[in-house]
Amino acid sequence: MTTIFYTASSLDGFIATSQHGLDWLLRRDVDPDGPMGYAAFARSVGALVMGAATYEWLLAHDAGWAYAQPTWVLTHRPLPARPGADVRVAHGDVRAVHEQMTAAAGDRDLWVVGGGDVARQFAVAGLLDEIWVQFAPVTLGAGIPFLPLALELALLQTARNREFLCGRYRVVGVPGTPDPVGAEDT
Ligand SMILES: NC(=O)c1ccc[n+]([C@@H]2O[C@H](COP(=O)([O-])OP(=O)(O)OC[C@H]3O[C@@H](n4cnc5c(N)ncnc54)[C@H](OP(=O)(O)O)[C@@H]3O)[C@@H](O)[C@H]2O)c1
Repeated sequence: MTTIFYTASSLDGFIATSQHGLDWLLRRDVDPDGPMGYAAFARSVGALVMGAATYEWLLAHDAGWAYAQPTWVLTHRPLPARPGADVRVAHGDVRAVHEQMTAAAGDRDLWVVGGGDVARQFAVAGLLDEIWVQFAPVTLGAGIPFLPLALELALLQTARNREFLCGRYRVVGVPGTPDPVGAEDT
């Protein structure tokens, strides 16, 4: 079982504009069945976790719920339910969330959907194994950061998928942080 932050990013390291815009990403050409593509990745996943803003973006923009797997949403607030979606609300230390996701996922992987700060919380807790990133051919200049944390990574795989440069990295360590590390209760 591998815990993976799988996301797309601008070339200058933003996953959304400051106003949560994703038009710069969604208009790009990508083959979901192509190299390092979404389709095979999604089949390998047994549970997902995302922050409240990502969940709210999906509620606002998606016609349907794309995920059959149980999905944990981190929030301090009541959020609207999504009919037909297996959504479980959680808050605080991501170690407890990771335990629940692991139990639910069986032998499949865990997907940290984002945003970047959710990935940071998993990394700081010593629970993030890999990062898969698809770089779109655009810079945004500002926005919501890909991953606001210093991390040592090892490059495992690269590919081109149409307009995207794809990389797969293993998390080697959080500089200056002992292992295992304590998660922050945000
Ligand atoms: N490029 C891509 O592929 C990609 C991938 C994922 C997301 N996105 C986009 O990137 C943006 C991400 O936005 P973001 O980084 O601001 O938000 P986010 O991570 O989706 O959500 C952040 C919010 O989640 C809640 N939260 C996070 N950790 C928590 C914890 N441990 N306990 C309780 N609540 C917790 C807090 O909300 P409350 O306190 O308000 O409840 C926090 O403000 C979204 O627009 C999303 O659509 C893009």
